[in-house]
Amino acid sequence: MKRVSIILILSLIIIFILASLALGQQTQTAVAKYGKPKIDAQMDEVWKSANEYVTDRYVSGTKGKVAYAKFRVLWDEDGIYVWAEVYDSLLNKDNTNPWEQDSIEVFVDEGNEKASSYDNNDAQYRVNFDNYQSFGTNASKDYFVTATKKTDFGYIVEAQVKMRTRKLKEGMVIGFDLQVNDANMFGNRVGIVAWNEWDNEAWRNPSYFGNLKLEK
Ligand code: BGC
Ligand code: CA
Repeated sequence: MKRVSIILILSLIIIFILASLALGQQTQTAVAKYGKPKIDAQMDEVWKSANEYVTDRYVSGTKGKVAYAKFRVLWDEDGIYVWAEVYDSLLNKDNTNPWEQDSIEVFVDEGNEKASSYDNNDAQYRVNFDNYQSFGTNASKDYFVTATKKTDFGYIVEAQVKMRTRKLKEGMVIGFDLQVNDANMFGNRVGIVAWNEWDNEAWRNPSYFGNLKLEK
């Protein structure tokens, strides 16, 4: 083959790889440290050692214009704990659909199968800024303990999500995502911002969740 054709073919391959990376989204992995905080929307000492992550995938709404969260995750044998600081300048819960109120959602796939529909170990939890809980597939109040607090930047959510099908152990990787719903003053949802999902799919498709690695 002539040198030019080889260069041409190689460049096409590189362009193809770059384009597919830009279009598809990479599944993210977060690390949860071991610890058991008290669920009261006050920052316990144990949270200070946890890594901080940011919801930075704008499923709807524009970065800088809609609410987002900085969050941390801890775990113990019974479940995971979430500390979320939600930056939201206007809090509204007028919509009758809880997912269109200012709220966060936590998604858990205990087996991390990344299947395209929910099975028994996947669940969707939601809580609004006023600590009103609501539940998607497989979730219920028996497995969700929450506290919220309004702040000058928006609100804080501290939550425990208990596992339903297994005990957690060091080294396990479970499926996990965190979503922020942002309502405007008219009670319309103007923002959906997630840590991992890039389309509004996590509520029905766990393959859009990220990974959460449990470390001690
Ligand atoms: C989604 C909504 C969906 C709801 C169902 C939310 O996470 O953003 O579009 O209707 O879940 O529980
Ligand atoms: Ca809002």
